[in-house]
Amino acid sequence: MSEIKKAWYKEMSVYQIWTRSFCDGNGDGIGDLKGVLSKLDYIKSLGVDAIWFSPIYASPQKDYGYDISDYRDIAPEYGTLEDFKAVLDGAHERGLKVIMDLVVNHTSDQHKWFKESLKGADNPYHDYYIWRKGKGKNPPNNWKSTFPGPAWEYNEELDEYYLHLFAVEQPDLNMDNPAVRNEVKDIMRFWLDMGVDGFREDVITYISKREGLPNGFPLPVACGMEHFTCGPHLHEYLSEFNDEVLSQYDCMTVGEAPMMTPDTALKFIDESEGKKPVLNMMFNFQHMEADCMITNFIVTKFNLKKLKKVMTTWQTKLYGKGWNALYLENHDQPRIISRFGSEKFRVESGKMLATMYICQSGTPFIYQGQEIGMTSIRLPNLSMYKDVATHNTYDIFKKFGFPHENIMKRAMYASRDNGRTPVQWSDKKNAGFTTADEPWFYINPNYTEVNVEQAENDPNSILNYYRKLLKFRKENEIVIYGDFKEHFHDSDKLYVYERNYEGKRMLVVCSFSDTIERFTAPKGFDLAKGKVVLGNYDELNSGFDSFNLRPYETKVFLFD
Ligand code: GLC
Ligand code: CA
Repeated sequence: MSEIKKAWYKEMSVYQIWTRSFCDGNGDGIGDLKGVLSKLDYIKSLGVDAIWFSPIYASPQKDYGYDISDYRDIAPEYGTLEDFKAVLDGAHERGLKVIMDLVVNHTSDQHKWFKESLKGADNPYHDYYIWRKGKGKNPPNNWKSTFPGPAWEYNEELDEYYLHLFAVEQPDLNMDNPAVRNEVKDIMRFWLDMGVDGFREDVITYISKREGLPNGFPLPVACGMEHFTCGPHLHEYLSEFNDEVLSQYDCMTVGEAPMMTPDTALKFIDESEGKKPVLNMMFNFQHMEADCMITNFIVTKFNLKKLKKVMTTWQTKLYGKGWNALYLENHDQPRIISRFGSEKFRVESGKMLATMYICQSGTPFIYQGQEIGMTSIRLPNLSMYKDVATHNTYDIFKKFGFPHENIMKRAMYASRDNGRTPVQWSDKKNAGFTTADEPWFYINPNYTEVNVEQAENDPNSILNYYRKLLKFRKENEIVIYGDFKEHFHDSDKLYVYERNYEGKRMLVVCSFSDTIERFTAPKGFDLAKGKVVLGNYDELNSGFDSFNLRPYETKVFLFD
């Protein structure tokens, strides 16, 4: 095993802000940068080291910022560039780094490049996008959007189609055009020169499409993915961004990578001797399929063995070679307690889930509201949903003959809107999110009990547990750099693993059961010699090697 390399981006933990629902600073019902500024002390108090902003750039908000119309400006409802600089300075003053979302697989159809490209083949911007003639009356190929529906949109005037792997308002850029890559490098420099510390690169594995755009294996969703995921020039383009821009700054990158396996990921992040990584880490999706298949809407019963198998494989395959990005929630996912945990045991399961992933090897990402154990809202009517992907998915399921009630059941569990409700700051009007009469989106009615103010005043809250956990991680290198070994992998109730680093040993025990489970220490562990450093019921060490775990109990033992 090669010596593990140390780096600041490995030691940090990151708090993700989806600004629209974070905190409203000017009372118009929409979260904004003024609101963020007012909460920097709170963010710092969690013990995180960085903030990742989901896109806050100018955007028609068809996909809430992931459709950018100006890469160098802030959406007016969130503030101005000056407001952003104030947040950036405020964060830096507190020792918090700032990571921006870089969305360059596509732009908004309102971006000036796209508007120019509509003027015809002679316009220099035409080739910024992927325009093709149809095949007779049909689109250029059979590809389908990942927000279900067709991937091609016909333009009558040009008699051409443009490719959009996401919403129709999100035309894909043609990364094979060197002018587009130069634009990307300029955008990176613009933000890095301003002082930001890195990028989360949106669906970055989609930017290179196979030459000739061949038909894909016929699938209702994301058909063609074998031709646009990790395409032929992906490594080359990432390397170019790295050599010409990123390597000149002390910054980090995390690439969003749907359909990625550890073996494929290593092609991009392997940092072992003689290898040159083109990204520092990647967000994979495999562990988020422990309760679904392919898309969140194909819901299956939560399967702990599936979750463990995926997480353990990433942990062991990457160890000493590449770095993991750890997450359970983000703006694309329903709340984790409502999926892998239990709303009945909200506090217990919220703490257990936090322990389960943050004690693994990698950089942990925490999504706003996760730290107080927010749960999914489960909106009952289709008209209440704002997310374009939810509506498109509804239409596709309808087309395939699913009854309305069945699809709504799926949406209530799986829609991205479950994770996009405003952060619950207090039990006051609108959960303290806004002073406006109406917030831009529904607030989860459980805000009267689940809110930051309550959590601050309760020493046993999920919030205070996150603080403890992140502090423990920061103070113990074993959590960051230790190796990983799983025990009892056949158990469908317990996730148990050990970490080892420089003579120290740590044992992490997590129960996913809502009843009592018997636990017996793995061979070679004398628990009486360990110290219980974290626990969601108490931190008592009975000294026995066998004991009962209460519902969703977690215990972490450290051996010096
Ligand atoms: C990523 C983003 C998601 C967005 C999509 C298209 O998956 O996380 O929110 O809709 O890319 O940009
Ligand atoms: Ca506002």
